[in-house]
Amino acid sequence: MSRARFISFEGGEGAGKSSNIALVANWLRQRGVEVLVTREPGGTPLAEDIRTLLLAPRDEAMAADTELLLMFAARAQHLEGLIMPALAKGVWVLSDRFVDATYAYQGGGRGLSMSRIAELERMVVGSHRPDLTLLFDVPVEVGLQRAGRRGALDRIEQENQAFFQRIRDTYLARAAAEPDRFAVLDASRSLDLVQQNLADLMQQVWGRWHD
Ligand SMILES: Nc1ncnc2c1ncn2[C@@H]1O[C@H](COP(=O)(O)OP(=O)(O)O)[C@@H](O)[C@H]1O
Ligand SMILES: [Mg+2]
Repeated sequence: MSRARFISFEGGEGAGKSSNIALVANWLRQRGVEVLVTREPGGTPLAEDIRTLLLAPRDEAMAADTELLLMFAARAQHLEGLIMPALAKGVWVLSDRFVDATYAYQGGGRGLSMSRIAELERMVVGSHRPDLTLLFDVPVEVGLQRAGRRGALDRIEQENQAFFQRIRDTYLARAAAEPDRFAVLDASRSLDLVQQNLADLMQQVWGRWHD
């Protein structure tokens, strides 16, 4: 058996991260792998409290740096309290968002400096980067339409279309820069087709990790 792997699920609103994470978890469990499904911001009780702070709409504008630091505060707790202990026990970790989301949302979306985000990544994440990042890519309008059906929008979902376009562009640029870690899925297709794609991809990756 090869070591436990860390897989992150990324993409804009309504891309299908949450819908597809369960499929990958089941795919792995059928192959005898113990899997932990988690999400960011969040994943532990304290990190989920930080999530609530981050997402609640409020009258006071949240400074972009506050948002950035709270994201990394939640991530530090998530890594130390959940992700690292799981991987050490041989449990695979599937996370609905991870550090690429900070580059996309706080870097691309809010316009914060990518090099400052990279400094925080070095400090908080260090070598604990995902083995594989699945990017669910969908045109902004399609994703927002899907996400809108989920109900009330949180503080970040209330941003405008240009904000989400910058997020999509940043994700795609990161995937192009790190093609070995990223796999990009065309999430504009039907859920059935996306899931077929995903199963094919998992088969390839599984082979690569087990030869
Ligand atoms: N490929 C797809 N085609 C059509 N609808 C989809 C597809 N993927 C997800 N959905 C639907 O879109 C909505 C948002 O999907 P979700 O998985 O919550 O996205 P995310 O977690 O990336 O925001 C859900 O109602 C889901 O059922
Ligand atoms: Mg989701």
